[in-house]
Amino acid sequence: MTRRLGADQVTEAARLLRTGELVAFPTETVYGLGADARNGRAVAAVFEAKGRPHFNPLICHFPDAESAFAEVIADDRARALAAAFWPGPLTLVLPRRTECRIDLLAGAGLDTLAVRVPAHPLALALLRAAAIPVAGPSANRSGAVSPTTAEHVLEGLSGRIAAVLDGGACDVGVESTVLDLAMGGAALLRPGGVPVEAIEAVIGKVSRPLPISAAEKTRTLRSPGMMLSHYAPTLPVRLGAVEAAADEALLAFGPPLPGAGLVWQLSETGDLREAAARLFAGLRHLDAEGGRLGLIRIAAMPIPESGLGAAINDRLARAAAPRT
Ligand code: TXA
Ligand code: MG
Repeated sequence: MTRRLGADQVTEAARLLRTGELVAFPTETVYGLGADARNGRAVAAVFEAKGRPHFNPLICHFPDAESAFAEVIADDRARALAAAFWPGPLTLVLPRRTECRIDLLAGAGLDTLAVRVPAHPLALALLRAAAIPVAGPSANRSGAVSPTTAEHVLEGLSGRIAAVLDGGACDVGVESTVLDLAMGGAALLRPGGVPVEAIEAVIGKVSRPLPISAAEKTRTLRSPGMMLSHYAPTLPVRLGAVEAAADEALLAFGPPLPGAGLVWQLSETGDLREAAARLFAGLRHLDAEGGRLGLIRIAAMPIPESGLGAAINDRLARAAAPRT
Protein backbone atom coordinates (compact mmCIF):
# COMPACT_ATOMS: atom_id res chain seq x y z
CA MET A 1 0.00 0.00 0.00
CA THR A 2 1.24 3.46 -0.88
CA ARG A 3 0.79 5.93 1.99
CA ARG A 4 -0.34 9.47 1.35
CA LEU A 5 1.57 11.83 3.64
CA GLY A 6 0.55 15.41 4.41
CA ALA A 7 2.72 18.51 4.74
CA ASP A 8 3.01 17.84 8.51
CA GLN A 9 4.59 14.42 7.84
CA VAL A 10 7.84 15.54 6.22
CA THR A 11 9.83 13.85 8.98
CA GLU A 12 8.21 10.50 8.22
CA ALA A 13 8.80 10.94 4.47
CA ALA A 14 12.47 11.73 5.18
CA ARG A 15 12.76 8.66 7.41
CA LEU A 16 11.37 6.44 4.66
CA LEU A 17 13.84 7.86 2.13
CA ARG A 18 16.74 7.28 4.52
CA THR A 19 15.75 3.64 4.95
CA GLY A 20 15.86 3.05 1.18
CA GLU A 21 12.14 3.37 0.46
CA LEU A 22 10.70 5.25 -2.54
CA VAL A 23 8.80 8.46 -1.77
CA ALA A 24 7.21 10.67 -4.42
CA PHE A 25 7.45 14.37 -3.59
CA PRO A 26 6.21 17.63 -5.08
CA THR A 27 8.55 20.05 -6.83
CA GLU A 28 7.66 23.33 -8.54
CA THR A 29 7.79 21.52 -11.92
CA VAL A 30 6.32 18.01 -11.52
CA TYR A 31 6.24 15.33 -8.81
CA GLY A 32 9.53 13.46 -8.47
CA LEU A 33 9.99 9.79 -7.59
CA GLY A 34 12.55 10.12 -4.80
CA ALA A 35 15.15 7.62 -3.61
CA ASP A 36 18.39 7.82 -1.62
CA ALA A 37 20.84 8.53 -4.47
CA ARG A 38 23.70 6.86 -2.56
CA ASN A 39 21.81 3.58 -2.32
CA GLY A 40 22.09 1.45 -5.47
CA ARG A 41 19.19 -0.80 -4.55
CA ALA A 42 16.88 2.14 -3.88
CA VAL A 43 17.90 3.63 -7.25
CA ALA A 44 17.31 0.29 -8.98
CA ALA A 45 13.86 0.21 -7.37
CA VAL A 46 13.11 3.58 -9.03
CA PHE A 47 13.71 2.13 -12.49
CA GLU A 48 11.67 -0.91 -11.51
CA ALA A 49 8.73 1.19 -10.27
CA LYS A 50 8.79 3.31 -13.43
CA GLY A 51 8.97 0.23 -15.64
CA ARG A 52 11.73 1.84 -17.72
CA PRO A 53 13.20 -0.52 -20.31
CA HIS A 54 16.58 1.23 -20.07
CA PHE A 55 18.59 3.21 -17.52
CA ASN A 56 18.26 6.96 -18.05
CA PRO A 57 20.50 9.09 -15.86
CA LEU A 58 18.45 10.64 -13.03
CA ILE A 59 18.48 14.16 -11.61
CA CYS A 60 19.79 14.45 -8.03
CA HIS A 61 17.98 16.92 -5.81
CA PHE A 62 19.61 18.98 -3.05
CA PRO A 63 18.38 21.56 -0.52
CA ASP A 64 21.04 24.12 -1.56
CA ALA A 65 23.86 24.77 -4.02
CA GLU A 66 26.52 24.02 -1.42
CA SER A 67 25.38 20.43 -0.91
CA ALA A 68 24.98 19.94 -4.68
CA PHE A 69 28.47 21.23 -5.40
CA ALA A 70 29.92 18.86 -2.81
CA GLU A 71 29.15 16.03 -5.28
CA VAL A 72 29.99 17.71 -8.62
CA ILE A 73 32.64 20.15 -9.83
CA ALA A 74 31.12 23.59 -10.29
CA ASP A 75 32.90 26.22 -12.38
CA ASP A 76 32.16 29.98 -12.35
CA ARG A 77 29.30 29.57 -14.84
CA ALA A 78 27.62 26.91 -12.69
CA ARG A 79 27.96 29.11 -9.60
CA ALA A 80 26.53 32.12 -11.41
CA LEU A 81 23.56 30.08 -12.69
CA ALA A 82 22.95 28.60 -9.25
CA ALA A 83 22.95 32.08 -7.74
CA ALA A 84 20.51 33.30 -10.40
CA PHE A 85 18.07 30.38 -10.64
CA TRP A 86 18.26 28.10 -7.58
CA PRO A 87 16.01 27.14 -6.00
CA GLY A 88 14.25 26.75 -9.33
CA PRO A 89 13.59 24.70 -12.48
CA LEU A 90 17.17 24.51 -13.77
CA THR A 91 19.20 21.28 -13.84
CA LEU A 92 22.96 21.45 -14.34
CA VAL A 93 24.98 18.55 -15.76
CA LEU A 94 28.47 18.72 -14.27
CA PRO A 95 31.45 16.37 -13.79
CA ARG A 96 31.25 14.06 -10.76
CA ARG A 97 33.83 14.69 -8.05
CA THR A 98 36.10 11.74 -7.30
CA GLU A 99 34.62 11.68 -3.78
CA CYS A 100 31.04 11.85 -5.16
CA ARG A 101 28.72 9.69 -3.02
CA ILE A 102 26.02 9.24 -5.66
CA ASP A 103 25.56 5.65 -6.80
CA LEU A 104 26.77 5.00 -10.36
CA LEU A 105 23.38 3.62 -11.39
CA ALA A 106 21.73 7.00 -10.58
CA GLY A 107 23.98 8.58 -13.22
CA ALA A 108 23.57 5.59 -15.59
CA GLY A 109 27.31 5.00 -15.36
CA LEU A 110 28.25 8.46 -16.71
CA ASP A 111 31.11 10.60 -15.43
CA THR A 112 28.67 13.47 -15.12
CA LEU A 113 25.72 14.11 -12.84
CA ALA A 114 22.58 16.22 -13.22
CA VAL A 115 21.89 18.29 -10.09
CA ARG A 116 19.19 20.73 -9.08
CA VAL A 117 17.69 22.60 -6.14
CA PRO A 118 13.88 22.58 -6.50
CA ALA A 119 11.85 25.65 -5.50
CA HIS A 120 8.95 23.87 -3.75
CA PRO A 121 8.86 24.51 0.05
CA LEU A 122 7.86 20.89 0.81
CA ALA A 123 10.62 19.53 -1.44
CA LEU A 124 13.17 21.73 0.34
CA ALA A 125 11.83 20.72 3.76
CA LEU A 126 12.08 17.05 2.77
CA LEU A 127 15.61 17.39 1.37
CA ARG A 128 16.76 19.21 4.50
CA ALA A 129 15.14 16.67 6.84
CA ALA A 130 16.49 13.68 4.91
CA ALA A 131 19.95 15.29 4.59
CA ILE A 132 20.83 12.95 1.72
CA PRO A 133 21.02 13.49 -2.05
CA VAL A 134 17.67 12.40 -3.53
CA ALA A 135 17.54 10.93 -7.04
CA GLY A 136 14.23 11.66 -8.69
CA PRO A 137 12.85 11.24 -12.16
CA SER A 138 9.28 12.36 -12.78
CA ALA A 139 6.94 10.16 -10.72
CA ASN A 140 5.13 8.43 -13.59
CA ARG A 141 5.29 5.04 -15.25
CA SER A 142 7.58 5.05 -18.27
CA GLY A 143 5.85 6.58 -21.28
CA ALA A 144 3.09 8.24 -19.25
CA VAL A 145 2.81 11.99 -18.78
CA SER A 146 4.55 13.65 -15.85
CA PRO A 147 2.35 13.99 -12.75
CA THR A 148 1.51 17.40 -11.30
CA THR A 149 -0.70 16.23 -8.41
CA ALA A 150 -0.50 13.47 -5.78
CA GLU A 151 -3.53 11.82 -7.44
CA HIS A 152 -1.65 11.59 -10.74
CA VAL A 153 1.24 9.94 -8.92
CA LEU A 154 -1.05 7.38 -7.30
CA GLU A 155 -2.82 6.61 -10.59
CA GLY A 156 0.48 5.37 -12.00
CA LEU A 157 2.48 4.19 -9.01
CA SER A 158 0.05 3.15 -6.27
CA GLY A 159 1.32 -0.05 -4.67
CA ARG A 160 4.77 0.39 -6.25
CA ILE A 161 6.15 3.06 -3.90
CA ALA A 162 6.08 3.51 -0.11
CA ALA A 163 4.50 6.95 -0.01
CA VAL A 164 3.62 10.17 -1.76
CA LEU A 165 4.12 13.49 0.00
CA ASP A 166 1.08 15.54 -0.96
CA GLY A 167 1.89 19.17 -1.72
CA GLY A 168 -1.07 19.92 -3.96
CA ALA A 169 -0.70 20.91 -7.61
CA CYS A 170 2.69 21.88 -9.06
CA ASP A 171 3.07 25.50 -10.30
CA VAL A 172 5.28 25.14 -13.36
CA GLY A 173 3.94 21.86 -14.75
CA VAL A 174 6.79 21.39 -17.21
CA GLU A 175 10.10 19.83 -16.21
CA SER A 176 13.27 21.69 -15.43
CA THR A 177 15.59 23.02 -18.13
CA VAL A 178 18.57 20.66 -18.45
CA LEU A 179 21.87 22.38 -19.27
CA ASP A 180 25.11 20.51 -19.92
CA LEU A 181 28.17 22.38 -18.66
CA ALA A 182 30.41 19.34 -18.43
CA MET A 183 31.89 19.45 -21.92
CA GLY A 184 33.42 22.93 -21.84
CA GLY A 185 30.65 24.76 -23.70
CA ALA A 186 27.04 25.10 -22.58
CA ALA A 187 24.48 22.90 -24.31
CA LEU A 188 20.74 22.83 -23.83
CA LEU A 189 19.72 19.17 -23.40
CA ARG A 190 16.06 19.79 -22.56
CA PRO A 191 14.07 23.03 -22.71
CA GLY A 192 12.09 23.56 -19.51
CA GLY A 193 11.01 25.90 -16.74
CA VAL A 194 13.89 28.39 -17.13
CA PRO A 195 13.97 29.92 -20.64
CA VAL A 196 17.27 29.53 -22.45
CA GLU A 197 17.38 33.30 -23.07
CA ALA A 198 17.44 33.87 -19.31
CA ILE A 199 20.38 31.47 -19.03
CA GLU A 200 22.21 33.25 -21.86
CA ALA A 201 21.77 36.55 -20.04
CA VAL A 202 23.96 35.09 -17.27
CA ILE A 203 26.60 32.99 -19.09
CA GLY A 204 26.40 33.94 -22.76
CA LYS A 205 25.74 31.71 -25.77
CA VAL A 206 24.09 28.32 -25.18
CA SER A 207 24.06 25.78 -28.00
CA ARG A 208 20.59 24.43 -28.83
CA PRO A 209 19.80 20.80 -29.51
CA LEU A 210 20.26 19.64 -33.10
CA PRO A 211 17.05 19.15 -35.07
CA ILE A 212 15.99 15.50 -34.80
CA SER A 213 17.14 14.53 -38.32
CA ALA A 214 20.64 15.95 -37.77
CA ALA A 215 20.80 14.34 -34.34
CA GLU A 216 19.87 10.98 -35.87
CA LYS A 217 22.67 11.34 -38.39
CA THR A 218 25.24 12.12 -35.71
CA ARG A 219 24.00 9.17 -33.74
CA THR A 220 24.39 6.65 -36.53
CA LEU A 221 27.84 8.03 -37.33
CA ARG A 222 28.88 7.30 -33.78
CA SER A 223 28.57 3.77 -32.48
CA PRO A 224 25.32 2.84 -30.70
CA GLY A 225 27.50 1.78 -27.77
CA MET A 226 28.57 5.39 -27.41
CA MET A 227 25.07 6.82 -27.80
CA LEU A 228 24.42 9.64 -25.33
CA SER A 229 28.15 9.25 -24.57
CA HIS A 230 27.25 6.56 -22.08
CA TYR A 231 30.28 5.05 -20.42
CA ALA A 232 31.55 2.23 -22.65
CA PRO A 233 34.21 -0.17 -21.39
CA THR A 234 37.57 -0.32 -23.20
CA LEU A 235 37.54 -4.12 -23.29
CA PRO A 236 35.18 -5.73 -25.79
CA VAL A 237 32.07 -7.32 -24.29
CA ARG A 238 30.74 -10.78 -25.16
CA LEU A 239 27.07 -11.38 -24.30
CA GLY A 240 25.22 -14.52 -23.25
CA ALA A 241 28.37 -16.33 -22.10
CA VAL A 242 27.78 -19.97 -21.14
CA GLU A 243 31.45 -20.73 -20.65
CA ALA A 244 34.41 -18.51 -19.69
CA ALA A 245 38.09 -18.47 -20.65
CA ALA A 246 41.12 -17.65 -18.50
CA ASP A 247 41.77 -14.46 -20.47
CA GLU A 248 38.22 -13.20 -19.87
CA ALA A 249 36.72 -11.08 -17.09
CA LEU A 250 33.36 -12.54 -16.08
CA LEU A 251 30.25 -10.51 -15.31
CA ALA A 252 28.41 -13.20 -13.36
CA PHE A 253 24.69 -13.54 -12.66
CA GLY A 254 23.88 -16.51 -10.44
CA PRO A 255 26.45 -19.23 -9.81
CA PRO A 256 29.59 -18.01 -11.67
CA LEU A 257 31.01 -19.94 -14.65
CA PRO A 258 34.36 -21.50 -13.79
CA GLY A 259 37.69 -20.59 -15.39
CA ALA A 260 37.52 -16.78 -15.83
CA GLY A 261 40.55 -14.64 -15.02
CA LEU A 262 38.46 -12.24 -12.93
CA VAL A 263 34.88 -12.28 -11.65
CA TRP A 264 32.35 -9.59 -10.68
CA GLN A 265 29.17 -10.99 -9.21
CA LEU A 266 26.04 -9.03 -10.15
CA SER A 267 23.85 -11.19 -7.94
CA GLU A 268 24.65 -14.63 -6.59
CA THR A 269 20.94 -15.30 -6.00
CA GLY A 270 19.75 -13.95 -9.35
CA ASP A 271 18.11 -10.86 -7.82
CA LEU A 272 17.61 -8.33 -10.66
CA ARG A 273 17.43 -5.32 -8.35
CA GLU A 274 20.77 -6.22 -6.79
CA ALA A 275 22.20 -6.86 -10.26
CA ALA A 276 21.06 -3.45 -11.54
CA ALA A 277 22.59 -1.78 -8.51
CA ARG A 278 25.93 -3.50 -9.14
CA LEU A 279 26.03 -3.23 -12.96
CA PHE A 280 27.94 -0.01 -13.63
CA ALA A 281 30.41 -0.53 -10.79
CA GLY A 282 30.98 -4.05 -12.17
CA LEU A 283 31.64 -2.91 -15.74
CA ARG A 284 34.13 -0.32 -14.48
CA HIS A 285 35.86 -2.80 -12.20
CA LEU A 286 36.18 -5.55 -14.82
CA ASP A 287 37.41 -3.03 -17.39
CA ALA A 288 40.07 -1.45 -15.18
CA GLU A 289 41.21 -4.53 -13.27
CA GLY A 290 40.84 -6.84 -16.29
CA GLY A 291 42.97 -4.47 -18.35
CA ARG A 292 45.63 -4.43 -15.63
CA LEU A 293 45.64 -8.25 -15.56
CA GLY A 294 46.03 -8.40 -19.36
CA LEU A 295 42.59 -9.94 -19.93
CA ILE A 296 41.19 -9.43 -23.44
CA ARG A 297 37.42 -9.37 -23.00
CA ILE A 298 34.47 -9.07 -20.66
CA ALA A 299 32.13 -12.08 -20.83
CA ALA A 300 28.62 -11.40 -19.55
CA MET A 301 26.41 -14.26 -18.40
CA PRO A 302 22.78 -14.24 -19.66
CA ILE A 303 20.26 -12.10 -17.78
CA PRO A 304 16.51 -12.76 -18.03
CA GLU A 305 14.53 -10.12 -19.97
CA SER A 306 11.88 -9.72 -17.25
CA GLY A 307 11.52 -6.60 -15.07
CA LEU A 308 14.83 -4.76 -14.58
CA GLY A 309 16.50 -7.43 -16.73
CA ALA A 310 15.37 -5.60 -19.88
CA ALA A 311 17.19 -2.42 -18.78
CA ILE A 312 20.31 -4.38 -17.80
CA ASN A 313 20.34 -6.15 -21.17
CA ASP A 314 19.82 -2.86 -23.00
CA ARG A 315 22.89 -1.40 -21.30
CA LEU A 316 24.97 -4.54 -21.92
CA ALA A 317 23.97 -4.53 -25.61
CA ARG A 318 25.27 -0.95 -25.88
CA ALA A 319 28.50 -1.92 -24.17
CA ALA A 320 28.89 -4.85 -26.61
CA ALA A 321 27.98 -2.89 -29.77
CA PRO A 322 30.78 -2.67 -32.39
CA ARG A 323 32.98 0.40 -31.91
CA THR A 324 33.73 2.87 -34.69
O1 TXA B 1 11.63 19.02 -13.33
C1 TXA B 1 12.34 18.01 -13.34
O2 TXA B 1 13.47 18.02 -13.80
C2 TXA B 1 11.74 16.74 -12.72
C3 TXA B 1 11.61 16.99 -11.22
C4 TXA B 1 11.13 15.77 -10.49
O3 TXA B 1 12.85 17.41 -10.69
N1 TXA B 1 12.57 15.61 -12.98
C5 TXA B 1 12.69 15.02 -14.21
O4 TXA B 1 13.52 13.92 -14.26
O5 TXA B 1 12.13 15.44 -15.20
P1 TXA B 1 13.56 12.91 -15.49
O6 TXA B 1 14.39 11.73 -15.02
O7 TXA B 1 12.20 12.62 -15.99
O8 TXA B 1 14.42 13.68 -16.56
C6 TXA B 1 15.81 13.84 -16.38
C7 TXA B 1 16.43 14.40 -17.63
C8 TXA B 1 16.47 13.36 -18.72
O9 TXA B 1 16.22 13.98 -19.95
C9 TXA B 1 17.90 12.84 -18.63
O10 TXA B 1 18.35 12.29 -19.83
C10 TXA B 1 18.66 14.11 -18.23
O11 TXA B 1 17.79 14.78 -17.37
N2 TXA B 1 19.91 13.80 -17.51
C11 TXA B 1 20.05 13.37 -16.25
N3 TXA B 1 21.35 13.16 -15.93
C12 TXA B 1 22.06 13.48 -17.03
C13 TXA B 1 23.45 13.46 -17.34
N4 TXA B 1 24.38 13.09 -16.46
N5 TXA B 1 23.81 13.83 -18.59
C14 TXA B 1 22.89 14.22 -19.50
N6 TXA B 1 21.55 14.26 -19.26
C15 TXA B 1 21.14 13.88 -18.05
MG1 MG C 1 10.26 12.18 -17.09
